[in-house]
Amino acid sequence: MKRLYTMGFSGLVLGAAVVGYNLQASEPAATETAQATSEITVYKSPSCSCCADWAEHLENNGFTVQVETVDDLRAIKSQYEVPREMASCHTAVIDGLVVEGHVPAGDIKAYVANPNAGFGDETVGLSVPGMPHGTPGMETGRQDSYAVLAFTADGDTETVKSYGNY
Ligand code: CU
Ligand code: CU
Repeated sequence: MKRLYTMGFSGLVLGAAVVGYNLQASEPAATETAQATSEITVYKSPSCSCCADWAEHLENNGFTVQVETVDDLRAIKSQYEVPREMASCHTAVIDGLVVEGHVPAGDIKAYVANPNAGFGDETVGLSVPGMPHGTPGMETGRQDSYAVLAFTADGDTETVKSYGNY
């Protein structure tokens, strides 16, 4: 399946086989501190399109996104200590923090700005487990309630933000 889309530069067509391309933010980050923590790498499978839509959501919110298309996402998840219960379609890394699944950009910014939230040093990252409808990149017209969780490698979780009646 081939998905065609452009990110900032017209005429650039990205096929499923493209590996490791850069998505450049169209505008510089608003502040210097935001700039220091705005670079995020997204690991996704070749067949997933909601991941690309989530990457676009990050771009639209000032992140500089590098997408790495990988065949074995499970290897990435185990490398970054993502427990199975936290798993979603894509795994991203920003500033040493893992972002698993369709976490809203604002929650990533809030967390990076205050990394002692959740479990402090023990925190591996943030996750929206599974693929809830209505999360950024999953605009299907249906709105699920969902939570953004901070998690540890052992699978301990703490809700850092909830949406809807979660
Ligand atoms: Cu997804
Ligand atoms: Cu995804």
